[in-house]
Amino acid sequence: RRIALIFGGKSAEHQVSLQSAKNIIEAIDKEKYEVVLIGIDRQGKWFLLDDPEHFLLHADDPSLIALNTSKHGIAFVPGENDHPFLTFPNGGKLGKLDAVFPILHGSLGEDGSIQGMLRIAGLPYVGPGVLGSAASMDKEITKKLLSKSGLAVADYLCFSRAMKDAIKFEKAVARLGLPLFIKPANQGSSVGITRVETKDDFYKGIDHAFDYDHKIIIEEAIAGSEIECAVLGNEEPVASLPGKILPQQSFYSYDAKYLDQKGACLNIPANLSEDMVIEVRKLAVKAYQVLQCEGMARVDFFLTKDHNFIVNEINTLPGFTKLSMYPKLWEVSGISYRELINKLIAFAIE
Ligand code: DAL
Ligand code: MG
Repeated sequence: RRIALIFGGKSAEHQVSLQSAKNIIEAIDKEKYEVVLIGIDRQGKWFLLDDPEHFLLHADDPSLIALNTSKHGIAFVPGENDHPFLTFPNGGKLGKLDAVFPILHGSLGEDGSIQGMLRIAGLPYVGPGVLGSAASMDKEITKKLLSKSGLAVADYLCFSRAMKDAIKFEKAVARLGLPLFIKPANQGSSVGITRVETKDDFYKGIDHAFDYDHKIIIEEAIAGSEIECAVLGNEEPVASLPGKILPQQSFYSYDAKYLDQKGACLNIPANLSEDMVIEVRKLAVKAYQVLQCEGMARVDFFLTKDHNFIVNEINTLPGFTKLSMYPKLWEVSGISYRELINKLIAFAIE
Protein backbone atom coordinates (compact mmCIF):
# COMPACT_ATOMS: atom_id res chain seq x y z
CA ARG A 1 0.00 0.00 0.00
CA ARG A 2 1.04 3.59 -0.67
CA ILE A 3 0.82 5.94 2.29
CA ALA A 4 1.59 9.66 2.29
CA LEU A 5 2.93 11.19 5.46
CA ILE A 6 2.27 14.93 5.69
CA PHE A 7 4.24 16.87 8.26
CA GLY A 8 5.67 20.25 9.26
CA GLY A 9 3.13 22.98 8.66
CA LYS A 10 2.62 26.61 9.56
CA SER A 11 1.59 26.01 13.17
CA ALA A 12 3.73 26.79 16.20
CA GLU A 13 4.24 23.03 16.54
CA HIS A 14 6.13 22.70 13.23
CA GLN A 15 9.26 21.35 14.86
CA VAL A 16 7.33 18.90 17.01
CA SER A 17 5.67 17.60 13.86
CA LEU A 18 9.05 16.97 12.19
CA GLN A 19 10.09 14.92 15.20
CA SER A 20 6.84 12.97 15.15
CA ALA A 21 7.24 12.31 11.42
CA LYS A 22 10.81 11.16 11.88
CA ASN A 23 9.78 8.55 14.43
CA ILE A 24 6.88 7.32 12.33
CA ILE A 25 9.08 6.99 9.22
CA GLU A 26 11.58 4.98 11.22
CA ALA A 27 8.93 2.73 12.74
CA ILE A 28 6.63 2.16 9.76
CA ASP A 29 6.65 -1.31 8.23
CA LYS A 30 8.54 -0.74 4.96
CA GLU A 31 7.61 -4.19 3.64
CA LYS A 32 3.96 -3.41 3.96
CA TYR A 33 3.92 0.25 2.99
CA GLU A 34 5.50 2.44 0.39
CA VAL A 35 5.86 5.80 2.09
CA VAL A 36 5.57 9.11 0.28
CA LEU A 37 6.84 12.12 2.23
CA ILE A 38 5.11 15.48 1.90
CA GLY A 39 6.57 18.31 3.94
CA ILE A 40 4.92 21.68 4.54
CA ASP A 41 7.34 24.47 5.40
CA ARG A 42 6.71 27.20 7.94
CA GLN A 43 5.40 29.47 5.21
CA GLY A 44 2.84 26.87 4.19
CA LYS A 45 4.51 25.68 0.97
CA TRP A 46 4.15 22.01 0.18
CA PHE A 47 7.02 19.83 -1.00
CA LEU A 48 7.30 16.27 -2.13
CA LEU A 49 10.46 15.00 -0.45
CA ASP A 50 12.36 12.76 -2.78
CA ASP A 51 15.07 11.92 -0.29
CA PRO A 52 13.82 10.44 3.00
CA GLU A 53 17.38 9.95 4.28
CA HIS A 54 18.06 13.64 3.86
CA PHE A 55 14.93 14.48 5.81
CA LEU A 56 15.80 12.08 8.61
CA LEU A 57 19.25 13.63 8.89
CA HIS A 58 17.92 17.16 9.08
CA ALA A 59 14.67 16.77 11.00
CA ASP A 60 16.29 18.27 14.10
CA ASP A 61 17.35 21.36 12.21
CA PRO A 62 15.08 24.25 13.17
CA SER A 63 15.66 25.94 9.82
CA LEU A 64 13.85 24.87 6.68
CA ILE A 65 16.69 22.81 5.25
CA ALA A 66 14.92 19.53 5.77
CA LEU A 67 11.99 20.52 3.61
CA ASN A 68 12.89 22.98 0.93
CA THR A 69 15.82 21.17 -0.61
CA SER A 70 13.27 19.05 -2.41
CA LYS A 71 13.03 19.86 -6.09
CA HIS A 72 9.35 19.16 -6.41
CA GLY A 73 6.91 21.70 -5.11
CA ILE A 74 3.31 20.60 -4.80
CA ALA A 75 0.74 23.06 -6.02
CA PHE A 76 -2.37 23.34 -4.01
CA VAL A 77 -4.72 23.68 -6.95
CA PRO A 78 -7.54 21.70 -8.48
CA GLY A 79 -6.05 19.31 -11.01
CA GLU A 80 -7.10 16.58 -13.33
CA ASN A 81 -5.61 13.60 -11.58
CA ASP A 82 -7.11 11.44 -8.88
CA HIS A 83 -6.43 13.88 -6.09
CA PRO A 84 -7.70 17.29 -7.06
CA PHE A 85 -5.80 19.12 -4.35
CA LEU A 86 -2.44 17.47 -4.66
CA THR A 87 -0.92 18.05 -8.07
CA PHE A 88 2.56 19.00 -9.18
CA PRO A 89 3.09 22.16 -11.16
CA ASN A 90 5.69 20.36 -13.26
CA GLY A 91 3.03 17.93 -14.41
CA GLY A 92 4.27 15.07 -12.26
CA LYS A 93 1.70 12.99 -10.48
CA LEU A 94 1.58 11.93 -6.90
CA GLY A 95 0.17 8.63 -8.04
CA LYS A 96 -2.47 6.60 -6.30
CA LEU A 97 -2.47 6.82 -2.54
CA ASP A 98 -4.24 4.38 -0.23
CA ALA A 99 -4.21 6.64 2.80
CA VAL A 100 -2.67 9.77 4.26
CA PHE A 101 -1.13 10.07 7.70
CA PRO A 102 -1.26 13.79 8.48
CA ILE A 103 1.17 13.98 11.36
CA LEU A 104 0.63 17.71 11.72
CA HIS A 105 -0.01 19.31 15.08
CA GLY A 106 -2.02 22.40 15.90
CA SER A 107 -3.86 24.79 13.64
CA LEU A 108 -4.57 23.69 10.05
CA GLY A 109 -3.26 20.19 10.86
CA GLU A 110 -5.27 19.14 13.86
CA ASP A 111 -8.30 21.42 13.67
CA GLY A 112 -10.26 19.85 10.82
CA SER A 113 -8.77 21.96 8.03
CA ILE A 114 -6.58 19.37 6.36
CA GLN A 115 -9.11 16.69 7.26
CA GLY A 116 -11.67 18.58 5.17
CA MET A 117 -9.24 18.89 2.29
CA LEU A 118 -8.43 15.18 2.35
CA ARG A 119 -12.10 14.31 2.56
CA ILE A 120 -12.83 16.38 -0.53
CA ALA A 121 -9.88 14.76 -2.27
CA GLY A 122 -11.39 11.36 -1.46
CA LEU A 123 -8.37 10.19 0.51
CA PRO A 124 -8.73 8.16 3.72
CA TYR A 125 -6.65 9.62 6.54
CA VAL A 126 -5.42 8.71 10.00
CA GLY A 127 -7.09 10.36 12.98
CA PRO A 128 -10.45 11.97 13.65
CA GLY A 129 -12.60 13.55 10.95
CA VAL A 130 -13.49 17.19 10.46
CA LEU A 131 -15.93 17.52 13.34
CA GLY A 132 -13.94 15.57 15.94
CA SER A 133 -10.75 17.40 15.03
CA ALA A 134 -12.33 20.84 15.17
CA ALA A 135 -14.26 20.19 18.38
CA SER A 136 -11.18 18.80 20.13
CA MET A 137 -8.86 21.58 19.01
CA ASP A 138 -10.90 24.41 20.46
CA LYS A 139 -10.59 24.37 24.24
CA GLU A 140 -13.83 26.29 24.79
CA ILE A 141 -15.91 24.01 22.56
CA THR A 142 -14.26 20.93 24.08
CA LYS A 143 -15.21 22.06 27.58
CA LYS A 144 -18.77 22.88 26.60
CA LEU A 145 -19.34 19.49 24.98
CA LEU A 146 -17.64 17.50 27.73
CA SER A 147 -19.37 19.25 30.63
CA LYS A 148 -22.75 18.90 28.91
CA SER A 149 -22.11 15.13 28.90
CA GLY A 150 -21.31 15.03 32.59
CA LEU A 151 -17.52 14.95 32.35
CA ALA A 152 -15.69 17.23 34.79
CA VAL A 153 -13.61 20.07 33.33
CA ALA A 154 -11.66 22.88 34.99
CA ASP A 155 -13.63 26.10 35.53
CA TYR A 156 -12.77 28.82 33.03
CA LEU A 157 -13.60 32.12 31.42
CA CYS A 158 -13.41 32.67 27.68
CA PHE A 159 -12.74 35.91 25.82
CA SER A 160 -12.43 36.90 22.18
CA ARG A 161 -10.04 39.63 21.13
CA ALA A 162 -12.92 42.07 20.85
CA MET A 163 -13.62 41.58 24.58
CA LYS A 164 -10.02 42.15 25.62
CA ASP A 165 -10.61 45.44 27.46
CA ALA A 166 -13.23 43.77 29.64
CA ILE A 167 -10.75 41.23 31.03
CA LYS A 168 -10.00 42.12 34.65
CA PHE A 169 -7.49 40.46 36.94
CA GLU A 170 -9.61 40.93 40.08
CA LYS A 171 -12.71 39.41 38.51
CA ALA A 172 -10.81 36.44 37.12
CA VAL A 173 -9.17 35.79 40.51
CA ALA A 174 -12.47 36.10 42.38
CA ARG A 175 -13.88 33.33 40.20
CA LEU A 176 -10.87 31.11 39.53
CA GLY A 177 -8.37 31.81 42.34
CA LEU A 178 -4.60 31.86 42.00
CA PRO A 179 -2.51 30.57 40.42
CA LEU A 180 -4.45 30.39 37.19
CA PHE A 181 -3.62 29.59 33.60
CA ILE A 182 -4.10 31.67 30.47
CA LYS A 183 -4.23 29.70 27.22
CA PRO A 184 -4.89 30.41 23.56
CA ALA A 185 -8.13 28.53 22.78
CA ASN A 186 -6.57 26.75 19.78
CA GLN A 187 -3.00 25.68 20.36
CA GLY A 188 -1.01 22.64 21.31
CA SER A 189 2.17 21.70 23.15
CA SER A 190 1.56 24.43 25.78
CA VAL A 191 2.57 27.13 23.27
CA GLY A 192 1.26 30.53 24.38
CA ILE A 193 0.31 29.35 27.88
CA THR A 194 1.17 31.35 31.02
CA ARG A 195 0.89 30.25 34.62
CA VAL A 196 -0.19 33.37 36.49
CA GLU A 197 0.56 34.30 40.08
CA THR A 198 0.52 38.10 39.95
CA LYS A 199 -1.42 40.92 38.29
CA ASP A 200 1.59 41.71 36.16
CA ASP A 201 1.87 38.11 34.89
CA PHE A 202 -1.84 38.20 34.20
CA TYR A 203 -1.89 41.06 31.71
CA LYS A 204 1.33 39.87 30.06
CA GLY A 205 -0.19 36.41 29.79
CA ILE A 206 -3.32 37.81 28.13
CA ASP A 207 -1.22 39.59 25.48
CA HIS A 208 0.92 36.50 24.97
CA ALA A 209 -2.07 34.20 24.45
CA PHE A 210 -3.64 36.66 21.98
CA ASP A 211 -0.43 36.46 19.95
CA TYR A 212 -1.51 32.92 19.08
CA ASP A 213 -5.28 33.08 18.78
CA HIS A 214 -8.21 35.48 18.60
CA LYS A 215 -9.83 33.61 21.47
CA ILE A 216 -8.32 32.75 24.86
CA ILE A 217 -9.38 30.95 27.98
CA ILE A 218 -8.48 31.74 31.57
CA GLU A 219 -8.58 28.58 33.61
CA GLU A 220 -8.41 27.59 37.25
CA ALA A 221 -5.29 25.65 38.24
CA ILE A 222 -6.07 22.15 39.44
CA ALA A 223 -3.77 21.00 42.22
CA GLY A 224 -2.80 17.38 41.68
CA SER A 225 -1.13 15.41 38.93
CA GLU A 226 -1.56 15.01 35.18
CA ILE A 227 -2.70 11.67 33.80
CA GLU A 228 -2.92 10.80 30.11
CA CYS A 229 -4.65 7.96 28.31
CA ALA A 230 -4.23 6.94 24.67
CA VAL A 231 -7.38 5.95 22.80
CA LEU A 232 -7.51 3.99 19.55
CA GLY A 233 -10.31 2.84 17.27
CA ASN A 234 -13.43 3.86 15.40
CA GLU A 235 -16.78 2.43 16.47
CA GLU A 236 -15.41 0.54 19.46
CA PRO A 237 -12.50 2.57 20.78
CA VAL A 238 -10.22 1.22 23.48
CA ALA A 239 -8.09 3.11 25.99
CA SER A 240 -4.51 2.27 26.93
CA LEU A 241 -3.15 2.06 30.42
CA PRO A 242 -2.76 5.59 31.80
CA GLY A 243 0.54 7.42 32.20
CA LYS A 244 1.43 10.09 34.72
CA ILE A 245 3.42 13.26 34.21
CA LEU A 246 5.60 14.50 36.99
CA PRO A 247 6.70 17.95 35.83
CA GLN A 248 9.91 19.18 37.35
CA GLN A 249 8.99 22.78 36.58
CA SER A 250 5.94 24.83 37.57
CA PHE A 251 3.91 23.20 34.80
CA TYR A 252 4.22 20.85 31.80
CA SER A 253 5.43 23.57 29.43
CA TYR A 254 6.75 23.37 25.86
CA ASP A 255 10.33 23.21 27.17
CA ALA A 256 9.44 20.47 29.61
CA LYS A 257 7.71 18.53 26.84
CA TYR A 258 10.44 18.62 24.22
CA LEU A 259 13.57 20.54 25.07
CA ASP A 260 14.56 19.83 28.61
CA GLN A 261 15.30 16.14 29.14
CA LYS A 262 14.82 16.72 32.86
CA GLY A 263 11.69 18.80 32.22
CA ALA A 264 9.27 16.06 33.10
CA CYS A 265 9.34 12.55 34.43
CA LEU A 266 6.91 10.14 32.91
CA ASN A 267 5.53 7.37 35.05
CA ILE A 268 4.29 4.74 32.59
CA PRO A 269 2.04 3.03 33.41
CA ALA A 270 0.87 5.38 36.14
CA ASN A 271 0.98 3.96 39.64
CA LEU A 272 -2.75 4.21 40.30
CA SER A 273 -5.05 1.77 42.02
CA GLU A 274 -6.77 -0.79 39.83
CA ASP A 275 -10.13 0.95 40.32
CA MET A 276 -8.73 4.28 39.27
CA VAL A 277 -7.16 2.77 36.17
CA ILE A 278 -10.54 1.32 35.21
CA GLU A 279 -12.23 4.65 35.86
CA VAL A 280 -9.80 6.77 33.86
CA ARG A 281 -9.89 4.41 30.88
CA LYS A 282 -13.68 4.58 30.89
CA LEU A 283 -13.63 8.37 31.09
CA ALA A 284 -11.09 8.59 28.26
CA VAL A 285 -13.30 6.51 25.95
CA LYS A 286 -16.33 8.58 26.93
CA ALA A 287 -14.57 11.88 26.20
CA TYR A 288 -13.37 10.45 22.87
CA GLN A 289 -16.88 9.49 21.90
CA VAL A 290 -18.48 12.73 23.09
CA LEU A 291 -16.06 14.65 20.88
CA GLN A 292 -16.78 12.32 17.94
CA CYS A 293 -13.19 11.15 17.65
CA GLU A 294 -12.11 8.34 15.35
CA GLY A 295 -8.78 6.64 14.69
CA MET A 296 -6.88 8.00 17.64
CA ALA A 297 -6.60 10.69 20.29
CA ARG A 298 -4.84 11.20 23.59
CA VAL A 299 -7.07 12.30 26.45
CA ASP A 300 -5.33 14.36 29.14
CA PHE A 301 -6.65 14.57 32.69
CA PHE A 302 -5.88 16.24 35.98
CA LEU A 303 -6.15 13.97 38.98
CA THR A 304 -7.16 16.03 42.00
CA LYS A 305 -5.86 15.42 45.50
CA ASP A 306 -9.23 13.90 46.43
CA HIS A 307 -9.02 11.45 43.52
CA ASN A 308 -11.31 13.01 40.94
CA PHE A 309 -10.44 12.97 37.26
CA ILE A 310 -10.95 16.25 35.42
CA VAL A 311 -10.53 16.29 31.65
CA ASN A 312 -7.89 18.83 30.62
CA GLU A 313 -8.00 18.37 26.86
CA ILE A 314 -7.99 15.98 23.91
CA ASN A 315 -5.23 15.82 21.29
CA THR A 316 -6.39 14.29 18.05
CA LEU A 317 -2.95 14.06 16.40
CA PRO A 318 -0.85 13.56 19.51
CA GLY A 319 2.91 13.85 19.44
CA PHE A 320 4.97 10.86 18.28
CA THR A 321 8.32 12.33 19.35
CA LYS A 322 10.84 10.35 21.38
CA LEU A 323 9.43 11.93 24.54
CA SER A 324 5.76 11.63 23.60
CA MET A 325 3.24 9.65 25.60
CA TYR A 326 0.90 8.24 22.93
CA PRO A 327 3.11 5.50 21.48
CA LYS A 328 4.67 4.78 24.88
CA LEU A 329 1.28 4.20 26.45
CA TRP A 330 0.44 1.65 23.77
CA GLU A 331 3.79 -0.04 24.16
CA VAL A 332 3.09 -0.74 27.85
CA SER A 333 -0.44 -1.77 26.91
CA GLY A 334 0.86 -4.45 24.53
CA ILE A 335 0.91 -2.73 21.13
CA SER A 336 4.35 -2.09 19.64
CA TYR A 337 5.15 1.11 17.76
CA ARG A 338 5.08 -0.69 14.40
CA GLU A 339 1.84 -2.48 15.15
CA LEU A 340 0.29 0.79 16.31
CA ILE A 341 1.04 2.45 12.99
CA ASN A 342 -0.40 -0.54 11.13
CA LYS A 343 -3.57 -0.26 13.19
CA LEU A 344 -3.87 3.50 12.66
CA ILE A 345 -3.62 3.05 8.91
CA ALA A 346 -6.10 0.18 9.02
CA PHE A 347 -8.59 2.34 10.95
CA ALA A 348 -8.17 5.08 8.36
CA ILE A 349 -8.96 2.76 5.47
CA GLU A 350 -11.72 0.80 7.27
N1 DAL B 1 0.10 18.76 20.80
C1 DAL B 1 1.14 17.80 21.05
C2 DAL B 1 1.78 17.36 19.80
C3 DAL B 1 0.64 16.67 21.87
O1 DAL B 1 -0.42 16.79 22.40
O2 DAL B 1 1.32 15.67 21.97
MG1 MG C 1 -2.96 19.81 23.24
